[in-house]
Amino acid sequence: MKLLLPLIIIFNSSPSIAWDNDPATGLINKPGMELVRAHCTACHSARLIIQNKAERPGWLSTIRWMQESQGLWPLGQVEATILDYLSANYGPKKVGRRKRPPPELLPP
Ligand code: HEC
Repeated sequence: MKLLLPLIIIFNSSPSIAWDNDPATGLINKPGMELVRAHCTACHSARLIIQNKAERPGWLSTIRWMQESQGLWPLGQVEATILDYLSANYGPKKVGRRKRPPPELLPP
C-alpha cells in the first residue's frame, strides 16, 4: 500500500500539471523548451502555442505563415529542434490517453 500512492501520482501526472511546466510561460518543460521560449514568445503569449495541436507539418506551416506574413525571422538550425519540441509536446496524439504503465509497475 505504501508503494501505491507515489505510483498513482507518477502515472496520473499530465502535461498540464504545473510542476512539469515552465513557470514563466506555461510551456511543457521538455528538451527544446528554452528555444521555443526564446523564439516563439517574443510577439505573442505562449498560450497561442499551448492552445494549438498539430503534427509536425502543421507546425511547419504555421511557422512558414508567420515568416511570410508576420515578421518571424528565419530559425536556421534550431528550426528542427523547435519542430521536434512542438510536435512531441503539442501534437494531436497528446490529446488521448497516456500509455498504460508496464504490468510490472501495476499493483497485482
Ligand atoms: C515576429 C513575431 C512572431 C514570432 C517571433 C512568432 N509568432 Fe506566432 N504569431 C505571430 C502573429 C502576429 C500571430 C497572429 C496572432 C493573432 O492572430 O492574434 C501568430 C500566431 C501564432 C499561432 C496561432 C496560429 C493560428 O492558426 O491561429 C501559433 C500557434 C503561433 N503563432 C506559434 C508560434 C511559434 C511556434 C513561434 C516560434 C517558432 C512563433 N509563433 C513566433 C507572430 C509571431
